[in-house]
Amino acid sequence: MSGSDRPLSEGEPILLYRKGERSIPLSLVAGKRVVQGFGVVDLTPAIGLREGDTLTVAGTPYTLLRPSLRDLIATWPRATQIVTPKDAGYLLYLANVSPGSVVIETGTGSGALTLFLARAVGADGRVITYDRRPEHQKVARERLAFAGVADRVTFREGDAAAGFQESAVDAVVLDVPEPWALLPAVVQALRTGGSLVTYTPTYNQLERTVRAIREGPFGEVTALELIERPLHVGEGGTRPSFEMLGHTGFLAGARKVASAP
Ligand SMILES: C[S@@+](CC[C@H](N)C(=O)[O-])C[C@H]1O[C@@H](n2cnc3c(N)ncnc32)[C@H](O)[C@@H]1O
Repeated sequence: MSGSDRPLSEGEPILLYRKGERSIPLSLVAGKRVVQGFGVVDLTPAIGLREGDTLTVAGTPYTLLRPSLRDLIATWPRATQIVTPKDAGYLLYLANVSPGSVVIETGTGSGALTLFLARAVGADGRVITYDRRPEHQKVARERLAFAGVADRVTFREGDAAAGFQESAVDAVVLDVPEPWALLPAVVQALRTGGSLVTYTPTYNQLERTVRAIREGPFGEVTALELIERPLHVGEGGTRPSFEMLGHTGFLAGARKVASAP
């Protein structure tokens, strides 16, 4: 059964969509409650409906949808700098993540990359996410639960420099200030043939990381920056937007090609 054929069930996130309005994902729970922007609502009638069906709330008709990755992440207040979608997409490619993969991530931060990874590994895969800040993990844990993918994520609190508990994982993804300091732990946890990806905001961090990777049992080492240029599609013509994200972060990727340097 495809996504839109599957009835909406209690507990999953939904979107009340109306053209031209900003939609905020809501949890589909039965009974009356106060929902920001709506007042007191009862979403019970949405249970069992399908994407595309109409639900009237406070006299206004809305189209029912399941929130996309974009809907979910766009509304999160930032606890930390999060990985941007353009970088997350390429990061999944470098990490060679597919359904069933087992991936270690450090750090959890706001949980944005955790959500990308959790959706990519699918119901049969696993993401083990480490962070030394319990308050970040608490927020991320709630967000992943809301998104309905917490069952495929293991949250581990602690400094990853002390080592990962897992071994023979398919990929390790590092979004921390000092990725080079975690390479001994990465080498121990990654299976031969597995992928390492790092995400760092400055040239100095990237250089130090790539040099350290080259000294380890890694091959296929690559480093890059992605530039995203939004386009303004107007009635009079289409042009690049005047606003552009100048810089986000640098990606480095590598594969473990031997069990020792
Ligand atoms: C930039 S944030 C990660 C953002 C995340 N990728 C996202 O998209 O939301 C970096 C996180 O790494 C954590 N961190 C930094 N160094 C760490 C280490 N050695 N071990 C565990 N966590 C670490 C920090 O506490 C912080 O939450």
